Amino acid sequence: MSLHRLQAIRIGVSDPTAQAAFYGEMGLTSNNGSLFDSPDGGTQIHVSEAPFRRLLGVDLGVDSEADLADIAGRLTAVGAPHTLISNELVCVEPHTHIEFRIRPLPRLEQSIPEAFAPNAPGSWPRRNRRSPGVFPGARSPRRLGHIVVGTPSWRGTRDFLIDALGFKVSDEFTDIIAFLRCTTDHHNIAIVGGEVPFLQHYSWECDDVDHVGHLATKLLTVDADRHTWGFGRHFIGSNFMWYLRDPSGSFVEFYSDMDRIDDDAEWESVGRTAVGLENVGLAWGPRMPMEFIVPKDIDVLKSGWASLDR
Ligand SMILES: [Fe+2]
Repeated sequence: MSLHRLQAIRIGVSDPTAQAAFYGEMGLTSNNGSLFDSPDGGTQIHVSEAPFRRLLGVDLGVDSEADLADIAGRLTAVGAPHTLISNELVCVEPHTHIEFRIRPLPRLEQSIPEAFAPNAPGSWPRRNRRSPGVFPGARSPRRLGHIVVGTPSWRGTRDFLIDALGFKVSDEFTDIIAFLRCTTDHHNIAIVGGEVPFLQHYSWECDDVDHVGHLATKLLTVDADRHTWGFGRHFIGSNFMWYLRDPSGSFVEFYSDMDRIDDDAEWESVGRTAVGLENVGLAWGPRMPMEFIVPKDIDVLKSGWASLDR
């Protein structure tokens, strides 16, 4: 796979100041209030003002200029306009209007968090001590892991990402959702259907389930209405999850323990077990809220896109 990194997203929101404050609460760092960094991923979000919330762009990394040339060739093959200038390949996915910028980047390297084995029936590695997991540990997530994008053309957007950019399918339900990867994560972009393009959620990797819990709890202590869905464990991707709402109305997920795919053949032969629609949401946890399928602000999004079309 020539793609190896989801580096950043560029989003437009109506209130960049509120968005910046939220990212500060999350523990992301910023020097200017518009670019926000995670500890492991570097700059991961570019925020600009827009009349309605939308995903403007996605930055991806490859290993080499040869990789860029390969992708440019595939874009040409599918008839997609693009530019390749100064080691940066730029193209626009036609159905979502997301601008993809692709350039050579170093591979992601992450330090290993300090792990501890839990007590279990017949096994008590921790004795005469409280669990480290109970102590306050709200801290920044490690990195941006994936995004989920709504599109008016599920097939068109899916095929563009696979055929032109080189994403791989990890799991999918035709016309409903496609989980695609450009790294060893189970998914980095998922595609869902929608009346208009929208950013359904964006997701941040945490060390473990306690990291997820402490971070989400910190943000919910400030505003309990931020809670959207969770706590639970997804079937697809296997990750623990907790979803909150950011100030713009997009959902933010904190996750840990996602499936890793570093042998495509083994995933296809062993890992990718059959899944049914009952598996789309959860292995366990609270029921998926309706706003997860139809955003509460769908009318705002529709009028926003209509105004752009005029
Ligand atoms: Fe997610």
